[in-house]
Amino acid sequence: MSNVNEISKRRTFAIISHPDAGKTTLTEKLLLFGGAIHVAGAVKSNKIKKTATSDWMEIEKQRGISVATSVMGFNYGDYKINILDTPGHQDFAEDTYRTLTAVDSVIIVVDVAKGVESQTRKLMEVCRMRNTPVIIFVNKLDREGRDPFDILDELENELKISVRPLSWPINIGAKFKGVYNIYEHSLNLFQPDKQHVTDRVEIADINDPTIDDAVGEADAAQLRNDIELIDGVYPDFEVEDYLEGQVAPVFFGSALNTFGVKELLDCFVRIAPSPRPVEAEERKVEPVEEKFSGFVFKIHANMDPTHRSCIAFVKVCSGVFRRNEVYKHVRSGKTYRFSAPTAFMAQKKEIIDEVYPGDIVGLPDNGIFKIGDTITEGEDLHFKGLPSFSPEMFKYIENTDPMKTKQLNKGIEQLMDEGVAQLFVNQFNNRKIIGTVGQLQFEVIQYRLLHEYGAQCRWEPIHLYKACWIESEDTEVLEAFKKRKHQFMAVDREGRDVFLADSGYVLQMAQQDFPKIKFHFTSEF
Ligand code: G4P
Repeated sequence: MSNVNEISKRRTFAIISHPDAGKTTLTEKLLLFGGAIHVAGAVKSNKIKKTATSDWMEIEKQRGISVATSVMGFNYGDYKINILDTPGHQDFAEDTYRTLTAVDSVIIVVDVAKGVESQTRKLMEVCRMRNTPVIIFVNKLDREGRDPFDILDELENELKISVRPLSWPINIGAKFKGVYNIYEHSLNLFQPDKQHVTDRVEIADINDPTIDDAVGEADAAQLRNDIELIDGVYPDFEVEDYLEGQVAPVFFGSALNTFGVKELLDCFVRIAPSPRPVEAEERKVEPVEEKFSGFVFKIHANMDPTHRSCIAFVKVCSGVFRRNEVYKHVRSGKTYRFSAPTAFMAQKKEIIDEVYPGDIVGLPDNGIFKIGDTITEGEDLHFKGLPSFSPEMFKYIENTDPMKTKQLNKGIEQLMDEGVAQLFVNQFNNRKIIGTVGQLQFEVIQYRLLHEYGAQCRWEPIHLYKACWIESEDTEVLEAFKKRKHQFMAVDREGRDVFLADSGYVLQMAQQDFPKIKFHFTSEF
């Protein structure tokens, strides 16, 4: 078990937020502390702003950037940190959900003026499903915003998790003077500066008169009141509660001004979990096991249209992944040897010989992999992934070039393997329906089919409310339902029955009329 050391120093996490809360800025500042980059502004945001939705080329360009910043590994003190980037645009939410299967913890960024926003709420639901430990960073304290106590209440109510502030701001906006670090009993005085770390004042405790000298008597008195209130209201912080996903420690700061970021990082490396055991259908897999195992959580297409190769991102769950070793691709039962696996260090990719649990390895993929695939040294393991969610937008896909039917079908299959969207075949008319979580995916699919597969398609509207997977122990009832709804029945790629409800009312009535049928809104049940 020689890799115990390597495992215990790894911290693999994702930063999630609603667009514009400051995820990119915070990521960049963390990389600055890790010495992975040297000037602010080096990390390009991979977010696709709302205005860009109609500009596909812009999205393409940004996706190109995001390959390089998909995983950012760097060393910080004794720790090896891996930040897994997640797309900001909500149309790519499924990508984000899947990335969350590969992290051991999460940092949530919230804008102090806006509080908890829709996307944060959804992402937190996924964290809750997986009991992922969460730290919250309340950002933009240099701007006018909401009362910090109100923000804490909102975090608890909206994210449905207990919170425990570990730092506390002294005023906000124009009067912002700094934060008191409850975790370390120190005071950080605010000086707006985009490049450097700000002054830290060591103090004995909250009653230390140094605080009065630093921020003035009135603000010092207010701070003492606030801290007394916090200590009275919130139980002491227990790392165990955080690790179990029960309590989220909260930090305040300003990512743009590199303020409060180092405190966050220092606490993070100390309390955040090293790689955790991963559940497979067969058994629980411990990172310290001798034999290698890992799973594919993301597939990224090559930006060069003449090269249809992709990169499969594999999270190493146990053992050590070694270059040129023979591994089993469990789904196909075939074995493969990978001669050019890549590691992700900050913004570069490099060939690597050994990869440890917690790290991500990039494998060149010529259509071998599908999201969720497992690779092992031989054991048949199937890691439990995150289910696909019931899509919310649907279109019939039609071939517009009959000479290219084969290419079109191959393209559709591979894009579905990558997890771009979901394919259903309507049993009534045998037409293919693509279901997505956002409008952008239809553009992505059409563009990529043309540029990577030479196939042309057109979309035809179909009015549907939701697709849900159905099952029942009573086969007669199931058959009766399928007969009654035959126009609205489809199968997914695994051949499972899917009911295409065209309105919320129809779905509700179906659930009422057929109580013996289970309607599932995620693909794993
Ligand atoms: P995102 O990845 O979560 O979408 O957010 P991003 O970091 O891109 O930040 C969104 C905007 O908020 C950026 O401004 C960024 O500079 C600003 N910002 C981030 N942290 C802070 C902070 O602590 N204080 C203040 N005042 N602003 C902050 P932008 O004008 O949209 O972009 P840019 O032109 O500055 O890049």
